[in-house]
Amino acid sequence: MFKALEKINERPKPFQTYTASDLWTDEHTSKQMLSFHLDEAIDVSSRNAEFINRSVEWIASEFNIGRDFKIADFGCGPGLYAARLAKHGATVTGIDFSGRSIEYAKEVATRDRLNISYVNQNYLEFETEDRFDLVLMIMCDFCALSPTQRKGILSKFHKILKPSGSALLDVYSLSAFEQREEATTYEVNQLNGFWSTNKYYGFLNTFKYDEEKVILDKYTIIESERTRTVYNWLQYFAPEELEREFIDAGFFVKGFYSDVAGTPYDQKSSEFAVIANTSGPLGRQDR
Ligand SMILES: C[S@@+](CC[C@H](N)C(=O)[O-])C[C@H]1O[C@@H](n2cnc3c(N)ncnc32)[C@H](O)[C@@H]1O
Repeated sequence: MFKALEKINERPKPFQTYTASDLWTDEHTSKQMLSFHLDEAIDVSSRNAEFINRSVEWIASEFNIGRDFKIADFGCGPGLYAARLAKHGATVTGIDFSGRSIEYAKEVATRDRLNISYVNQNYLEFETEDRFDLVLMIMCDFCALSPTQRKGILSKFHKILKPSGSALLDVYSLSAFEQREEATTYEVNQLNGFWSTNKYYGFLNTFKYDEEKVILDKYTIIESERTRTVYNWLQYFAPEELEREFIDAGFFVKGFYSDVAGTPYDQKSSEFAVIANTSGPLGRQDR
């Protein structure tokens, strides 16, 4: 018992273990994540419908979206952005490893005759010959990736974008990092049965890595027949740090915003968004 508790309370190295699929593709939890996505009033899994509508209108005008405009939406979930963007005339590719979300997204696309191809795959492994005008990664998914994974995905974005292409993504800010605190909680059927239909004991250990600006919510879920540990990592960013990662991948940062709906940048905002282009104002050679 003492040893088990020691393990539960153990602080791993930042981004030591990647378990994102345990949260998003597990038979039981993926069902609940999908119902959160589809609840238009809340900001869980996806943002609320009013925000998404506003965001899509901004994206459509910012990037002048119309026919022949190609978008790749990484971590598209049930296609809430993809479907709206396709209605603006874009051709969209949505990538997500949640089979349940992709199935839902495909049904909507077929029903509404939308020009979208959905790919049910881990986006870290996604390869394509297609070239896009815009790559999206919305709702701070970039923050769940380790420095090595972020480097890999930015270089993938650069590779699949056209010479005049752009990436738009959002991240958590340092102002949000300051609000986070270390904590340990323990609860029977933690989060109202979110983790399993069976009875379980759930531990949540929140670790704060001050130097790296990383937070880990480490869930240990103990059922009678199995024990799981799910690691939810979040990297928090200063704009300069995010810009550095984009520059290292060959991008030019065009601008920062408070969100992916184009709200002007405010350093007090808990999240912020970035647009990065594959070429600078004078073309690719001006670096
Ligand atoms: C926070 S949700 C955001 C969904 C969507 N972008 C939105 O804002 O409505 C993150 C999505 O990314 C997907 N995801 C997370 N990691 C992934 C990975 N490595 N490969 C593919 N999909 C991933 C999840 O299944 C989930 O649908």
